[in-house]
Amino acid sequence: MDKLIIQGGHVLQGEVRISGAKNAALPILAGSLLATAPVKITNMPHLRDITTMMELTGGMGVRFVLDDQMGVEVYAEDIQRFEAPYDLVKTMRASILVLGPLLTRFGSARVSFPGGCAIGARPVDLHLKGMEKLGAKITIDNGYIHAKAPNGLRGADISFDTVTVTGTENLIMAATLAKGVTTLHHAAREPEVVDLANYLNTLGAKISGAGTDTIVITGVKELGGGQYSVMPDRIEAGTFLAAAAITRGKIKLKQVAPTTMLQIIHKLTEAGAEIQMDDNTISLDMKGKRPKAIRLSTAPYPGFPTDMQAQMIALNTVADGVGHVVETVFENRFLHVQEMQRMGAQIVLEGNTAIVTGKERLTGAPVMATDLRASASLVLAGLVAEGETVIERIYHIDRGYEVIEEKLSQLGAKIYRDHS
Ligand code: UD1
Repeated sequence: MDKLIIQGGHVLQGEVRISGAKNAALPILAGSLLATAPVKITNMPHLRDITTMMELTGGMGVRFVLDDQMGVEVYAEDIQRFEAPYDLVKTMRASILVLGPLLTRFGSARVSFPGGCAIGARPVDLHLKGMEKLGAKITIDNGYIHAKAPNGLRGADISFDTVTVTGTENLIMAATLAKGVTTLHHAAREPEVVDLANYLNTLGAKISGAGTDTIVITGVKELGGGQYSVMPDRIEAGTFLAAAAITRGKIKLKQVAPTTMLQIIHKLTEAGAEIQMDDNTISLDMKGKRPKAIRLSTAPYPGFPTDMQAQMIALNTVADGVGHVVETVFENRFLHVQEMQRMGAQIVLEGNTAIVTGKERLTGAPVMATDLRASASLVLAGLVAEGETVIERIYHIDRGYEVIEEKLSQLGAKIYRDHS
């Protein structure tokens, strides 16, 4: 199994291009199940999760033509199967995103129940309740969700108990072809939700209010085709900024969307980084200084993203002072902490708070990646650790970071992949 091997202690310096956003590309690909004419999607990241979504929708009858410019043509005119099998769903929870499009276009969907997951229970009850409000009949047997709406879905007023990103996306997609108007209250405001809504509107949907907590969808008869470019990945961008900050370096990100990551920029500034940005670049300079410890609490957008929590804990492990990081979105999302402790980090967990006392240095160690963002945080820790860090189970990182070792090497890191 692949491993990443890092020789720590090298300052990151240079420029890096940020890829398209995984969490926007996944719902956009699922949303392509609604398109009755060809679609061209550009700025698609090359990631394991994207391949999984293509395999999943490909199994239903969607055809893809890839170009060499991170573009993909999607042909979804002829869908014959409405099923998401366990084998694929178990590797990627976001597979649940096919439920809304299949149900609303074909009146039928069979999706394997996503199982437990390393970062907490992560149920899909709110997706299902919302579909029922739109008139779907849902049954669960043999580990599969069966959803039926033979006469189509009907618009409804739906209020989420908890802010859910993929839940909001699934119901937006279901509502695009429902008869009448659907209003989603307490909806997720994440930029990826806005990207999906813009994409669907390009295909002919009528969605307004995305980016606020009230989204209104007026059902249309069908969606056509079109062309769309996926937004930049704010979490990949944030991870590279944190990597530069942790090594006291200087970095410029290209093809980013700074306005989607203001909380991350704000916290890195508190850590002592000098940051400049324009429409699509961000430059960070630590001026060779040690980062300062930061306090933060994760929250749905526009709060601090939970997907950057682990990376900020890594930053705090070598910062000056004591940092507090509170995780409010997911239970049990501190699996990286014990791995960092193996590298000498001083972290105490109290409920959903990690109290991190910064040290001058970490020491390299063999560690294990447990989930996607935890893996990224271990890479950051490895970049500042004295000696060698070997990260096992690196397949997690390939789900969400495009050629991370190549991008980091270009910035001066000593990191390579061992295929043995
Ligand atoms: C998405 C992102 C993920 C990110 C997360 C929070 C994608 C593909 N994944 O995941 O990277 O970490 O948002 O920003 O976009 N919940 C319920 N019932 C539900 C749905 C959710 O109780 O039916 C709870 C979850 O357990 C969790 C909270 O709501 O505690 C937020 O989860 P949610 O926003 O749904 O996360 P995902 O959409 O799975």
